[in-house]
Amino acid sequence: MPNPILLGVNVDHVATIRQARGSRYPDPVHAALQAEMAGADGITMHLREDRRHVQDEDIERFAACTQTKLNFEIAATDEMRDFALRIKPTDVCLVPEKREELTTEGGLNVVSNDNAITELCASFNDSNIRVSLFVDPDQTQIEASRKAGAEFIEIHTGSYAEAKTLQQRRHELQKIEQAAKFAEEIGLKVNAGHGLTRHNVAAIAAIPQMYELNIGHSLIADALFTGLPQAIKDMKQLMLDARRQ
Ligand code: PXP
Repeated sequence: MPNPILLGVNVDHVATIRQARGSRYPDPVHAALQAEMAGADGITMHLREDRRHVQDEDIERFAACTQTKLNFEIAATDEMRDFALRIKPTDVCLVPEKREELTTEGGLNVVSNDNAITELCASFNDSNIRVSLFVDPDQTQIEASRKAGAEFIEIHTGSYAEAKTLQQRRHELQKIEQAAKFAEEIGLKVNAGHGLTRHNVAAIAAIPQMYELNIGHSLIADALFTGLPQAIKDMKQLMLDARRQ
């Protein structure tokens, strides 16, 4: 029996549409609850320092009514640590953040940052909040993540998703497969995400170490055409089929 694989649905882009007009709709918390009913195993929300999409109240409202779990994605700052310790999500995922970027570009530099990150991991571990570090598929970053005290890594799949040729994609996939294997060998649990779509998810879901995939942009885009529940069911099915093969 293969290990199960979980789908975490990122609803940031529902908030992006709302913020574009400063309207009251669409509500990312409504989307999150609908996603849970459609089979999402958890919900991811990224509270960015510039509050460009999700707002503080969105996190507070969802944390108070989730039926699954909140994976709270944040930059490694004191402000975000205090927010997370107050609302106590199941999971925290630490990501790098640059104001001018379109989305999270590249993984955390845990190697050169490890004192601050080690202290954050300790605060979250003490509060029984599971910590994941969003890193590139790079052994030195993965090793540093374990030393920093994280329980999980989330492997950045952006380079795989954006590969322009088949050869490049195979190369990026191999890096992710090796990184996942190495992480498991040194005692880390492994998630992955970024740029995953219905067309490229299968190879990542088939990696036996993968515990959870966090997917946002393509699911919200698919929802325009199929509705959110169907988009989630389709993605989950693709992941489960890939895991069974
Ligand atoms: N995981 C992390 C850590 C992310 O920063 C993002 C993007 O917000 C995702 C997963 C989801 O990426 P996408 O929206 O491209 O599916």
